[in-house]
Amino acid sequence: MKAISLFACGGIGDLGLRHSGFDVIVANELLEDRAEVFKHNYPKAQMVVGDIWEKRSEILKATQNRLGGSSLDIVFATPPCQGMSKNGRGKLLSLFRQGLKGAVDPRNLLVVPTIEIFIKSGAHTLVMENVPEMENTFIPDPHGNGELIGIIDLIKKSLGPEFGSSIRVVEFANYGVPQSRQRLISIFTKNEILRRHIKMYGSLFPQETHSKDGYFAEKWVTVRDIISDDPPLDAGKPETAQYKKIQYHRVPLLDDEKYLWVSNTPEEKGAFDNQCINPACGFKENPTHGSGKDENGINKASTETPIFCIKCNSILPRPWVKENGEYRLMKGYTSAYKRMSWDSPASTLTRNLSYACSDNKLHPSQNRVLSLYEAMKLHTISNYEFEWRRADGKKVSDKLIRELIGESIPPAGLEKIFRFLSDLLNEIGQNKVSVLRRGQQELCL
Ligand SMILES: C[S@@+](CC[C@H](N)C(=O)[O-])C[C@H]1O[C@@H](n2cnc3c(N)ncnc32)[C@H](O)[C@@H]1O
Repeated sequence: MKAISLFACGGIGDLGLRHSGFDVIVANELLEDRAEVFKHNYPKAQMVVGDIWEKRSEILKATQNRLGGSSLDIVFATPPCQGMSKNGRGKLLSLFRQGLKGAVDPRNLLVVPTIEIFIKSGAHTLVMENVPEMENTFIPDPHGNGELIGIIDLIKKSLGPEFGSSIRVVEFANYGVPQSRQRLISIFTKNEILRRHIKMYGSLFPQETHSKDGYFAEKWVTVRDIISDDPPLDAGKPETAQYKKIQYHRVPLLDDEKYLWVSNTPEEKGAFDNQCINPACGFKENPTHGSGKDENGINKASTETPIFCIKCNSILPRPWVKENGEYRLMKGYTSAYKRMSWDSPASTLTRNLSYACSDNKLHPSQNRVLSLYEAMKLHTISNYEFEWRRADGKKVSDKLIRELIGESIPPAGLEKIFRFLSDLLNEIGQNKVSVLRRGQQELCL
């Protein structure tokens, strides 16, 4: 079966597509660096580099050439999520009516060329991946008079009644991925068997294989399951911050202040809640760093959290800034400088995975963030043959690796979703063959 991948980045998500029986024949990606990693890992696919708006006909032409007369099954589209909004329709509509520039993020309009390419490609199924907010994101209807329309509604309207759909917010930990990551997966199909499956079972998603408690499924795969055997690292000194025998098992150094905060942070806790380390005091009941919402419903970190022990007045090992010789608590949420838990899936790995100050990025018990080697395992990339190399021979930087991990979904979870589709589609194939065979026999008789 054949697929094309739009917004392919380095092709990490496409590993799930490829390993469930779909041949990725063409891909499109805006950024050269990312496309080079894709090209190295998918040498048989044609990568069209550039803006999808400008490359629409090139992508379609390349697809037709590669198909050579056969038909396309799937368009897999993973447009950028940074523009997807939590703004309600009402707020956006009012901003839009006031003519406020920037009310609509141009990245949210990328669904328009996606729909066009899908329809013109003749594929029977469109699979889109995005953040759950996509369900509530509105854009101006390209076929209306500036009216706003939800992205999902626009897709349904453009595709028409010939298409059925199955849309779900998927928690990838529930498909056995050792990382918590929620994504909206939307499947639109005109394939008869897939449509019939939606009618009969209400969904095109496989049953979840894992759950937190392990009821009716296996227990979530945890950080402990995946990285507890890795050689320990410590971000305090260059010689302990890397393990040379394992590529990418290295972490950035923490300066003395950060190391103090991190090394006094217990498992699952954040450095903003650290307690007194004065040996003569050791008070453990200093108020922790709460947060709440302001009058506009926006998250605000508490401004009352102490930076000095309320019992002995010595400085607490909490993230601080020093201004004019005075200490104050750094602005930040409880999730900053926070450790992951050993016994849960990892928190979502973002492009900031190497920054201790980012959300839930600290190793469960060692004084450091995760190494890229561990991140590759927790993102399930290591389950696949994937090389961190570029087709142009240039070195893949750590920054690019972090971006590619942060922008993609763990392929092992996606593979389960695509395999479910491919099994159903293969069934059609087999049925068709048996119907054909029966027909031929009847003809012979
Ligand atoms: C969420 S990421 C896709 C992740 C990818 N599916 C993976 O598994 O690694 C979105 C990608 O869309 C690309 N992109 C953004 N704007 C684009 C445009 N106008 N045309 C083509 N690609 C674009 C970004 O550079 C980014 O790599």
